[in-house]
Amino acid sequence: MEPTATTAPALPRSIEQIRAEFPILAREIHGEPLAYLDNGATSQKPLAMIDALDRYWREHNANVHRGVHTLSEEATALYEDARTTVASHLGADPREVVFVRNATEALNLVAYSWGRTNLEAGDRIVVTEMEHHSNVVPWYQVAQEKGAHLDWAPITDDGRLDMDALAALLERGPKLVSVAHVSNVLGTINPVEEIAGMAHDAGALLVVDGAQAGPKLELDMAALGADFYALTAHKMYGPTGIGSLFGRRELLEGMPPFIGGGSMIRKVTKELITWADLPAKFEGGTPAIGEAIGFGAAVSWIDELGLPAIHAAEAELTSYALERVAEVPGLTVFGPPAGDDRGGVGTSRPHVRSRVQRTSSHSRWLHMRDDACCPAIGAVRNIKLTKSGQSSDARRRLRKSSSSSACAKGSKNGHYNLQTERKKSRRFLSQLRARDPLSAWKRRRAGFNLPGRCLHFPAWAVVSALAMVRRLIRSWPG
Ligand SMILES: Cc1ncc(COP(=O)(O)O)c(C=O)c1O
Repeated sequence: MEPTATTAPALPRSIEQIRAEFPILAREIHGEPLAYLDNGATSQKPLAMIDALDRYWREHNANVHRGVHTLSEEATALYEDARTTVASHLGADPREVVFVRNATEALNLVAYSWGRTNLEAGDRIVVTEMEHHSNVVPWYQVAQEKGAHLDWAPITDDGRLDMDALAALLERGPKLVSVAHVSNVLGTINPVEEIAGMAHDAGALLVVDGAQAGPKLELDMAALGADFYALTAHKMYGPTGIGSLFGRRELLEGMPPFIGGGSMIRKVTKELITWADLPAKFEGGTPAIGEAIGFGAAVSWIDELGLPAIHAAEAELTSYALERVAEVPGLTVFGPPAGDDRGGVGTSRPHVRSRVQRTSSHSRWLHMRDDACCPAIGAVRNIKLTKSGQSSDARRRLRKSSSSSACAKGSKNGHYNLQTERKKSRRFLSQLRARDPLSAWKRRRAGFNLPGRCLHFPAWAVVSALAMVRRLIRSWPG
């Protein structure tokens, strides 16, 4: 029997139409159309999200959960609708979705609230060598405080998680494993379902850093088996200052609040304070209301395009990009080859002077990232301080490649990126190698890098400083 061809789901609109929904992409910079490939750092914003924010600030602004007037009721309904949208995107109950500032805060919430309550001296936590600092530092801090050990699961030569080594670490009985769903450096998509099964069999909880997975992968919390899952909105076409933490309800219910203050209390007396129900227990103070509403709008926008179609389009662009950069001589490309476990992040090392890379990527027409491998490399370096034991070839190689301070060029696809932009990144990497490094650096430095350009004081700061000086002079004795 002939095998049936599986056709990738198509996006409901063309890439050109999708691009037209992003006002910023209409900009020309130095006479060239903007080619934005720094989506791993933050994504650009579609009109659907910008309009939702605009509407909220113009028509509905008020504090939530505390006013009895119309605006407050509207703001509360919009804020809670946003939570419901994020929750249904994750296949979760809205009570299991806590709004936080970003993925970093989500991971810190688990480390401080769950970690401080449940970890004791001698306990073990497993992280991996491909983590962003945000998924290392909180665990390092809580481990230091509690006298727990941090174990590092290594990566293989082709940038995948070493599952055998992870299994060996699990035999030591850790209480918690924390892993990135998609690596921001290598593009590796980790097999979270499998890791969840392994962790649970070993009696450990699984925390997943979904910062890079949010914009591209279908996320069903029950199917993935994650106990906690962190998202950050600004990488998902939403605003900055907002993200979410999914936590299994019984776990969140057993955890103490992370931040004390208004909104997270049920009752306060001089003798006793009790906590609000989930998720308010973890949302102390006035939340980022408009931003949460923008987050909801961005998630709806993603869901309307459809994640399977997004994933298929991105996979096509990624394999095109990997083919093109492979044509550049002398370029080291990190991470697994194109395939099911390779996301659209691309990090490569052009083997030229690091300072030149940094200045020349203040690029006129191409917006890529310097230093992209440093988060993970930083973690790899920390191993020297925190880990004893075996060292893998991959780790040695990465450490070697991090010997210059700005070691790599990183780029990541957005749903609006075109093959022509990927071609530009290839051209850029080729030019970088070909260019006379020192003179290019000096030219740019003379032209653009004046230190005074960094000093910007907003008008209100100047006015209030002047007012303070006047008050001081007036109150001076005599
Ligand atoms: C894998 C990963 N985790 C966590 C973060 C931190 O995200 P945020 O700065 O939004 O908290 C990033 C940001 O680049 C990331 O790529």
